Amino acid sequence: MKKRLFFLSFICLMPFLVRSQETTNQQKMNVFVSSLMKKMTVDEKLAQLNLLTPNSNTGPFATKKYAEKLKDGSGGNVYSLVGSPTDIKSKLELAENTRLKIPLLSGLDIIHGYKTIFPIPLGLSCTWNLSLIEQTARIAAIEASAAGYNWTFSPMVDITRDPRWGRVMEGSGEDPYLGGKIAAAMVKGYQGADLKNETSLMACIKHFGMYGAAEAGRDYNTTDMSRLTMYQNYIPPYKAAVEAGAGSIMTSFNEIEGIPATANKWLITDVLKKQWGFMGFVVTDFASIQELTTHGISKDNKQSAELAINAGTDMDMGSESFVGYLKQSLKEGKVTMATIDAACRRVLEAKYKLGLFTNPYRNFDPGKVEKVTLTVENKKTAKEAAMQAMVLLENKNNTLPLKKNSNIALIGPFANSKSQMFSMWSTTGDEQSVVTIYDGIKKVNPGVSYASGTFISDNEYLGSFTGYEYDALDQKKLIEEAVELAKKSDVVIAVLGETSGMSGEAHSRSDISIPNCQVELLKALKSTGKPVVLLLTSGRPLAIQNALPYADAVVEIWRLGTEAGSAVADVLFGDYNPSGKLTMTFPRSVGQIPVYYNHKKTGRPYDGGRKKTFKSNYIDIPNTPQYPFGYGLSYTTFSYGKVQLSDTLLTGANKILKAKVNITNTGKYAGEETVQLYLNDPVASVTRPVKELKNFRKIFLQPGEMKEVSFEITPEDLKFYNSKLIWDWESGDFFVYIGTNSDVTNKAKFEWNK
Ligand code: NOJ
Repeated sequence: MKKRLFFLSFICLMPFLVRSQETTNQQKMNVFVSSLMKKMTVDEKLAQLNLLTPNSNTGPFATKKYAEKLKDGSGGNVYSLVGSPTDIKSKLELAENTRLKIPLLSGLDIIHGYKTIFPIPLGLSCTWNLSLIEQTARIAAIEASAAGYNWTFSPMVDITRDPRWGRVMEGSGEDPYLGGKIAAAMVKGYQGADLKNETSLMACIKHFGMYGAAEAGRDYNTTDMSRLTMYQNYIPPYKAAVEAGAGSIMTSFNEIEGIPATANKWLITDVLKKQWGFMGFVVTDFASIQELTTHGISKDNKQSAELAINAGTDMDMGSESFVGYLKQSLKEGKVTMATIDAACRRVLEAKYKLGLFTNPYRNFDPGKVEKVTLTVENKKTAKEAAMQAMVLLENKNNTLPLKKNSNIALIGPFANSKSQMFSMWSTTGDEQSVVTIYDGIKKVNPGVSYASGTFISDNEYLGSFTGYEYDALDQKKLIEEAVELAKKSDVVIAVLGETSGMSGEAHSRSDISIPNCQVELLKALKSTGKPVVLLLTSGRPLAIQNALPYADAVVEIWRLGTEAGSAVADVLFGDYNPSGKLTMTFPRSVGQIPVYYNHKKTGRPYDGGRKKTFKSNYIDIPNTPQYPFGYGLSYTTFSYGKVQLSDTLLTGANKILKAKVNITNTGKYAGEETVQLYLNDPVASVTRPVKELKNFRKIFLQPGEMKEVSFEITPEDLKFYNSKLIWDWESGDFFVYIGTNSDVTNKAKFEWNK
């Protein structure tokens, strides 16, 4: 009895003990940082606000090599150190020569894996599998921390509704709710339970903010939107990542309401630091301070540095303007010592939280790197993630799965390539370890022959940027060779789409369809009469109307990473039943962009008629996208029963409404389904989207099996930002939709009053 009482009181005291432990840690950190700062000169403080890279040559102080600056103490942090672990260590050790021996933050763009490469983030998001996504980030942290890094510039959480933007590959698509969940999972994966844990990497949320809304999808372009749209649709994932405890955040290149993010006091100080209580530090994107003059809000780099630090930016990536000018600005009274101190404190606190002052190299051990990278376990997770990331878009006449021992013609310039399974952000990945699609298929089904079949693109303008060559005569020969192979086969697998160089930073496209010459090949393959499976490789949703008539099945395979080939083979031959669901709408054509599921109703919603009815529609194309958000087929089929509610009239905020639905696997294969719950508030003080994702659950069903899936809805799910930007809910009617994608019509109505 006594024991039980003791145990019970211990449990009750737990939260208090944890909080008081946190307070003690915080106090210890304050004492340590304060006493260190007392010893620091202004120059030493400014050095902490400086982030160097071996690749930087754009800053005004780049005359001295970065390594000399690390040695003389003017560079307090570094990123993109590459080379052998021993080389990297020798650079990090340079901090030991400085007067106060303050260790360095060592950053790197570890976006979807370090050595073991996982699918691109957009692909990963299509798994809707938060624990798997977290695990990929954990593995990346374990591998990278052993190789000398303690900080990653990830997760990229920018919401985007424009697939022309090349950077959609780096994020989690268009939905703020799902985006927030994924952002938090990634932060958790990188940072682990405690940043001090030596295998953790400090996360850096990017790019704050609204970077994904670049006008016309052109990278670095201006963004402009109402605060309501910002708060409702773009800001939630940044906030979720802050709440998950991310240690740092990166400003974006774009302007917000006429002021570039790096100098935007409202964004950085008022919203991020004051409203959200962000305790980490704010770093700029590369040379963003310098770019303030190009934007046209400052006359020179000195003024830019002042604008940036006074807005709340703490660290300067690449422009060396803080370290170059702020001492002078201080003398002139343009910045205060308190402002510099506040920034310096945030950076030193990050180093403290990472445990760098007691162990500057943490998990870094050149002898260990090989043992912890590309392990069997890591590759297993890479394969799992790759399988779950693929989205089955079409499967006419059950073309897929294929029979093993088929006679396969594998065609396309990406089908036998290791490098094309990576993205522009897999620079550290080990290309040699990649399983190509050809190798993956061959292992399961030795009867496969390969031909490249086509050039990448016949667009001269694109070629002049990317270096792709095109020759019409050779193209003809390539197609002929592929067609010969197709004729001898049972089935054709065409791997077509974009190269890794066609998406990513500064890789926006105005035409997001499959290049003409590739479609020419597809057409020729289809004319053989053989079933054609199109594996679509891309870093963005593509407009595939020009290819659809020539494919019997289509699988979006993104850029799948190290285990691409083995994952593709499992999907093709039915060892894995595809379950991925799109997190970004696929448009029918570029003209529909921006096209996204959570749009507003308008005063004249289109009802499907074909007469001149003055409705909000196009006259040459349907409003509906090619594939909506949440869409993805399976080799089996799922049927949804009616949405049943525990109540249809509720009063008061502290209630829970239960919504349930029965789902049956009505097909022949066991399979996984992502059950999606959307809400709609049809009448409110500001107009609301037609639907908003509010919850989802993944279930696995055997053929014939039925499961009941039940969700809890609370007033928290009904909340939105009103015209005063207050997050609140309003009494009235609501609709709840539960189904297989955002196009769901299976709904029930309830009324909830305050
Ligand atoms: C520029 C990119 O916008 C950002 O995402 C990246 O982290 C930095 N460069 C550092 O490489």
